[in-house]
Amino acid sequence: MLTVGIVGAGLRGRMFASALSGQPGVEVVGFAEPSPRAAEGARAATGLPVHPDHRALLDAADPDAVIVATPDFAHREPAVDVAAAGKHLLVEKPLATTLDDAHAIADAVRAGGGRCLVGFENRWNPHVVRALAAVESGALGRPVTASAVLSNTYHVPTRMLSWAARSSPAWFLMPHTVDLVTALTGQRPVSVTAAGSRGLLAARGVDTWDVVHALVVFDGGATASLSSAWVLPDAHEGIVDFRFSLIGTDGSVRADVGHQGLTVVTDALRSEWPLAGRIGPADVGAAPWMAQHFAHALLEGAELGPDVEHGLLVTRTICAIERSLDTRGPVRLDELEPDGAEHAGDPAASAAETRG
Ligand SMILES: NC(=O)c1ccc[n+]([C@@H]2O[C@H](COP(=O)([O-])OP(=O)(O)OC[C@H]3O[C@@H](n4cnc5c(N)ncnc54)[C@H](O)[C@@H]3O)[C@@H](O)[C@H]2O)c1
Repeated sequence: MLTVGIVGAGLRGRMFASALSGQPGVEVVGFAEPSPRAAEGARAATGLPVHPDHRALLDAADPDAVIVATPDFAHREPAVDVAAAGKHLLVEKPLATTLDDAHAIADAVRAGGGRCLVGFENRWNPHVVRALAAVESGALGRPVTASAVLSNTYHVPTRMLSWAARSSPAWFLMPHTVDLVTALTGQRPVSVTAAGSRGLLAARGVDTWDVVHALVVFDGGATASLSSAWVLPDAHEGIVDFRFSLIGTDGSVRADVGHQGLTVVTDALRSEWPLAGRIGPADVGAAPWMAQHFAHALLEGAELGPDVEHGLLVTRTICAIERSLDTRGPVRLDELEPDGAEHAGDPAASAAETRG
């Protein structure tokens, strides 16, 4: 039996509890959640105990594994304590929103000895799984250039996330697309040039970037362009617009992930995701499959990734994107940490590891 605790009983924490419920050999043993309202909601929805913080959860339930699903900027403290206690860790993307926080988590994972999966859920997204299989078959030849658009309607930063002003399209959305293009190209990002705009969300009381674009150059010569906006109109047929492509020397692959072919028309037109929610005995979709894979890989001793070193690379790439937004010029990833040699475990990671 694998016991799992969940830190953060918001949208994702409760989704993970549902994804793991009824999984053979897996028991969710409780949440940690400081907000009384979210705690009450989680108790009512799941009947599970809810502790006021992650330390109380660790003390009371002593779980084998912990999922950290706190806001983007609040992963460090629970993730470090969980990893240092030798527990297995699934930490939501982004691993962290500063390099200091990301290194603290990576150091704790390396020292604690537990296993760590960073929540790049698109590795379980059927479009991405099939695209990666096409790349890995060799049929597309050498990866030349990739592109990815991942945007949300205003709903996400203005109503869904209470902490959007402390995040951005770069921190909330680009971890997915940075992960995707490193996996598709099989190469490590070495430099980025970013541009963006702000003002529309600020006028609605959420002071962060409206739009972020980034050009990424990889160590093997491939390039990628990434675009994320948080200002799609709410009338957009779904809250997510997600498209990507890869061009290789011998072929290409492209996907429209945001539209999965199911449209519901009432007084509005909505694109629904057929691969979401419960079908048969279990929740389906990229994020539930990721959580189920995490639990079963731990039970069976199977491979688990994308790992914390990859999470660190993605955080470093987005730190470079943030700096480039400010400086308006290209930023090399190795400029961010001139003294990065002290973190020897990470920069030595090979390009192959970016495939997770
Ligand atoms: N919502 C999505 O579609 C989505 C998708 C992929 C990944 N994520 C990631 O999942 C994480 C959580 O996002 P969410 O949408 O569930 O946010 P949320 O605001 O719905 O939930 C976060 C919860 O964590 C709680 N919390 C804050 N600090 C805490 C702490 N120190 N200990 C315990 N709980 C704490 C908050 O009170 C809140 O209830 C983020 O990193 C986000 O980027 C979200």
